[in-house]
Amino acid sequence: MPMDPSSAMLSQALLLLQCIILTLGQYDICKSLVSTDDGPTWEYYACQPKPMSMKEYMQIRVEPPDITCGNPPERFCTLENPYLCSDECDASTKELAHPPELMQDRERTGLITYWQTVTWSRYPEPLLANISLSWNKSLELTDDIQITFEYGRPTTMVLDKSLNYGRTWQPYQYYADDCMDAFGMLPKRVQDLSATNVTRVICTEQYSRWVGSKNEKNVRFEVLERFAIFAGTKLQNMDNLYTRMESMKGLRDFFTFTNLRLRLLRPALGGTYVQRDNLLKYFYAISNIDIPARCKCNLHAGQCSLRDGTLQCDCEHNTTGQDCSACERGFKAKSWKPGSYLPTPNGSPNICEASGTSDKCNCNQLGSFHARCNDTGFCQCREGTTGQKCEDCLPGYTWKQGCVPNVCDDELLLCQNGGSCIQNQKCVCPPSFRGVLCEQSRCQGEKGCDGASACYLSTLTLLLCLLANSLLKASA
Ligand SMILES: *[C@@H]1O[C@H](CO)[C@@H](O)[C@H](O)[C@H]1NC(C)=O
Ligand SMILES: *[C@@H]1O[C@H](CO)[C@@H](O)[C@H](O)[C@H]1NC(C)=O
Ligand SMILES: *[C@@H]1O[C@H](CO)[C@@H](O)[C@H](O)[C@H]1NC(C)=O
Ligand SMILES: *[C@@H]1O[C@H](CO)[C@@H](O)[C@H](O)[C@H]1NC(C)=O
Ligand SMILES: *[C@@H]1O[C@H](CO)[C@@H](O)[C@H](O)[C@H]1NC(C)=O
Repeated sequence: MPMDPSSAMLSQALLLLQCIILTLGQYDICKSLVSTDDGPTWEYYACQPKPMSMKEYMQIRVEPPDITCGNPPERFCTLENPYLCSDECDASTKELAHPPELMQDRERTGLITYWQTVTWSRYPEPLLANISLSWNKSLELTDDIQITFEYGRPTTMVLDKSLNYGRTWQPYQYYADDCMDAFGMLPKRVQDLSATNVTRVICTEQYSRWVGSKNEKNVRFEVLERFAIFAGTKLQNMDNLYTRMESMKGLRDFFTFTNLRLRLLRPALGGTYVQRDNLLKYFYAISNIDIPARCKCNLHAGQCSLRDGTLQCDCEHNTTGQDCSACERGFKAKSWKPGSYLPTPNGSPNICEASGTSDKCNCNQLGSFHARCNDTGFCQCREGTTGQKCEDCLPGYTWKQGCVPNVCDDELLLCQNGGSCIQNQKCVCPPSFRGVLCEQSRCQGEKGCDGASACYLSTLTLLLCLLANSLLKASA
């Protein structure tokens, strides 16, 4: 049964489209235009925005208000050379000022700039400082938080987070050179965590011991290492992570926040006790705070943008709100649901459907001809659709924005010659076969007989086919 050229071309083009979607990465797009017998229609997927550098969007507040150095001007020393105290912090001189916004700048010129506090001149009263970071938006971490300290990392600090715009807070991770002494906790590392306790809040000694102020400047909150517990060391199996996000209570929330707060409790001491005769060498200085995260849009948006000074999801699937957490007016036929990562690879969009008219029958918009039922209370189902609200498929059909006839299945319409049936809709053929059910050998009636030589229909098809073949090979 030869395939007519135009349908061959269409299937090549669809194959190509599929390849492009696959190579774009998971959950990158919310919808795509696909061809059906009734002409092109939208197909919807679960989607999420790309990770962004959230330091560009954060509001910083430091407490107490007079903690920033330079007012009045003050000299300071370094731990490495406590007798050389020639440096000065002066808020009234641009070159000598160290305001909080220097934690957030991009350091384009290559010059490291930093926020700096007053020195510990009031010892033994503790030197305390809070740094609150807020976004007015729910975010999800996608990589490690990294805070860069100049002149030594603090001996003791706590990272807190809030999920409700700063109304309540919870500790995220404790940091100390001696966890038992500072917090009464046993020291742990993320390597000590397993799938059952990955959301446990730990105290780590990894970033607080004195190693010299120049050797290690960074303090991390380890996100990738936690992801790797499910996705493998190279994060090669993100599907497994996403599946766990759906099934394991609290896992997604663990990486979610609206605000972060650093509580700095004790500065770097240079590996010894506090030396009271030279307190000008004790202070905090932060040059950078990296927060790689994505907007939480409940899998209903592929983009997030700054509007009215606040990050907001560009909601799809007829949802609305800053986090797409409600159905738009007129689309409340069913109660709102977040999108789902499952089934992989495209997830479930769980779109908000148009509300029916005044009578409570709510025929499924995609499965029936009208949202309203007829006078005797029946919904009028489209071909292949059944159920009181036309929400189920008859045998031989599969739900895909309505019920579509199966192209292949594991009982009757088998893919031949070793092809495999994907979601009842497509046979993926081995390289030397083609056709809807992989029933045709690519070599039939042709000279040179390698895979690509079957693509001779037209220059365009040839190009599409070559591209599709190479993409398929690359993704195999
Ligand atoms: C930092 O925040 C905590 C929690 O709100 C508060 O108890 C503490 O007094 C604050 N510290 C400073 C130095 O403002
Ligand atoms: C926070 O975001 C909400 C929703 O976009 C907005 O209405 C509100 O004004 C924002 N608040 C601040 C302080 O920016
Ligand atoms: C987490 O669980 C593993 C075993 O499943 C255990 O060895 C480890 O000590 C636990 N970690 C913490 C921090 O409780
Ligand atoms: C959302 O509603 C509009 C009409 O307001 C419609 O054109 C569009 O297809 C709907 N989108 C989805 C995903 O249902
Ligand atoms: C209502 O729909 C049902 C099912 O399609 C059909 O059997 C019935 O005849 C219809 N009634 C009217 C009044 O159209």
